[in-house]
Amino acid sequence: MSEKLLPYGRQVIDDDDIAAVADALRSDFLTTGPAVEYFEAGVCAFTGAKRGVAVSSGTAGLHAAMHALGIRPGDEVIVPPMTFAATANCVLYQGGRPVFADVDAETLLLDPAAAESAVSSRTKALIGVDYAGQPCDWEALRKIADKHGLALVADACHALGAEHKGRNVGTLADITVFSFHPVKHITTGEGGMCLTDNAALAERMRRFRNHGVTATAAQREKSGAWFYEMTDLGRNYRITDFQCALGASQLKKLPAWLKKRNELADAYDAALAGTAVRPLVKRPDRFHARHLYVVRHPRRDAAFRRLCEHGIGANVHYIPVHLHPYYRNKLGTREGLCPVAEEAYRKILTLPLWPGMTENDIEDVSAHTRSC
Ligand SMILES: Cc1ncc(COP(=O)(O)O)c(C=O)c1O
Repeated sequence: MSEKLLPYGRQVIDDDDIAAVADALRSDFLTTGPAVEYFEAGVCAFTGAKRGVAVSSGTAGLHAAMHALGIRPGDEVIVPPMTFAATANCVLYQGGRPVFADVDAETLLLDPAAAESAVSSRTKALIGVDYAGQPCDWEALRKIADKHGLALVADACHALGAEHKGRNVGTLADITVFSFHPVKHITTGEGGMCLTDNAALAERMRRFRNHGVTATAAQREKSGAWFYEMTDLGRNYRITDFQCALGASQLKKLPAWLKKRNELADAYDAALAGTAVRPLVKRPDRFHARHLYVVRHPRRDAAFRRLCEHGIGANVHYIPVHLHPYYRNKLGTREGLCPVAEEAYRKILTLPLWPGMTENDIEDVSAHTRSC
């Protein structure tokens, strides 16, 4: 085992980021202050979305989205199984039922035909996951949503900066949710953001992150009024000003990091070409944000062990959500429900990809991956 682990993903923090956080710590506001609005405005400007609601995690953002859309017991929401559990858990938080629809074999993105087959009279929303950083076929998903009167939600926790047919992720669904966990494109430590063009949805998510009350402490202080009312059963999903100061500083570097991630992914493609290790397919009509570099490996478990032995932090994204014990017990989901995702799960391997890596790292990882 090598001394130093090359992780599959990690943050890149520089002196500017540290200075931005220190400035926020010296300011009057540690939470719910101007840095939060500044970061929201920055992500909106970057994506072209009209409204941003920064929250304490991507999971909180998904929950706020389900709340804002009025998901409640008896409602169904279509989700793909090839994702992190939070995509489906947010439906359960509201008492709704996640209904799993299979993915496309080449990209592992939600298959629009499978999504449409899962629609029932109880379906209220459809969540697409821009898996690994590649956007779903949002045009096809929008048609299904409009035809059946469903809300469309993008779990874009992997896809800040991605595009479908020249349109930015953040503007393609009714609500888009990002995560700023350290392995993501930019980080706030923990954090997330919901984007929407719809003023009423934004207002509901804003209230939800603050206990469901009508005015924040800062707004009350400004207006000189003590009165507020609680209109919804919200949560404390607020994010701090020093986290948002970090996020805003990181956002400046996002274009360069997206470029670097794509260059590193291209280098993997070249190093693995002609071998039995097959990267997922990238669709030509999309700009891929390259959050994860996922391959199908004929000897996945052996390759995983070999990489570990050499200090390389490979990973598997994901165990299909419907196969987790909680889901089996709660919803009775089993093998055979989503055969494409289940087949992929037996072969997929995530190789390290983050902007601090070098071409030498790619060579090294590729050599060990090929040699199995
Ligand atoms: C697809 C997806 N959805 C949701 C989340 C949840 O985000 P967070 O960890 O910020 O709560 C993640 C995080 O890993 C994710 O990968």
